[in-house]
Amino acid sequence: EDLDLGGYPHYMAKEIQEQPESVERIIRGRLDDRFGVARLDGLNLTPRELRGFSRVKILGCGSAYYAGQVGATMIEELARIPADAEAASEFRYRNPIIEADTLYIAVSQSGETIDTAFAVEEIKRKGGRVVGLVNVVGSTIARACDGGVYLHAGPEIAVASTKALTNMAIGFALIALALGRVRDLSNADGQRIIDALRAMPGQIKSILDEGPRIAEHAKEFATANSLFFVGRVRGYPVAREGAQKFKEISYRHAEAYQTSELKHGPLALIDAALPTVAIVPADELTDRNLAAVQQIKARGGAVLAVTHEDVDFGELDVPRIVVPKTEPELDPILLTIPLQLLAYHAALSLGYDIDKPRNLAKSVTVE
Ligand code: AGP
Repeated sequence: EDLDLGGYPHYMAKEIQEQPESVERIIRGRLDDRFGVARLDGLNLTPRELRGFSRVKILGCGSAYYAGQVGATMIEELARIPADAEAASEFRYRNPIIEADTLYIAVSQSGETIDTAFAVEEIKRKGGRVVGLVNVVGSTIARACDGGVYLHAGPEIAVASTKALTNMAIGFALIALALGRVRDLSNADGQRIIDALRAMPGQIKSILDEGPRIAEHAKEFATANSLFFVGRVRGYPVAREGAQKFKEISYRHAEAYQTSELKHGPLALIDAALPTVAIVPADELTDRNLAAVQQIKARGGAVLAVTHEDVDFGELDVPRIVVPKTEPELDPILLTIPLQLLAYHAALSLGYDIDKPRNLAKSVTVE
């Protein structure tokens, strides 16, 4: 077992560090520079079929569901098709309406999550078309789907998923390209996304190099009993995933909120004892995000911002983790990486069992 760890103290640490290579693997051979598109033969869908879908519905559980939310936003932005993600664990129980012109995507690292497998079964029983975004080759979900895109993240051992989630988000970017380029996404815009995907392994490496600084913030945050993670639109699933990771391994109450919703209730909780991790990308919502940070600070709350170089915090005295800028549609992928490290180092400073957190299994195969 120690050999597999390759000198790392935990599988989670190893899997976080492996991301530059695992991202290389999912994009390898799939980026077509000539036509600014992704080549995804495994989807088993012709351009005409891809063009025929008028809606996308993504199903997954836990962090895979949050990756699905990232993916839905990418698909809406790049392909301009209505898309949303839903917890697969709820789907089957609400007698879902399955439509012939909806592309269903089941997303799962293990390919064995029973709730996601049942959702696939429900879709198929009602005649829907479902493809998989799955890591484990030949797994139950991969086999049940009509086609799919393998994540090629490599084996993931730690219960807290990291590299598989990053590849899920990249997999959605590839699917968004495929759906977009049979619609109104231009060759140039397709190429813009392709170039950004190619730069990503190097950018991830530069975030990982910030590990020691992130560890310092983590130690501080680990002492709080409760935290908020906030973000909006593209940043909201990032916040959800950040809170999830923190909860799973540091056993601290971490709650994700849309930054815009704070003033509708939870702002009442803010005080010196409840810190907030705020996702503040350089995008069309920067000013609104900064205004929310200001409101939190004014109520005595500590804020750690996960942000970009260009964001001007002005007078606001806020510690920052700065991530490299990519194309706006892909920002969530890079904004999530420091949150993995934040959770990891918080759990480490608290002395918990990082790879096998209490009460959790790597893959949930019973209902
Ligand atoms: C992630 O850190 C969690 N352990 C968990 O939410 C996980 O993502 C979920 O159970 C889905 O697993 P899957 O991707 O194997 O289907």
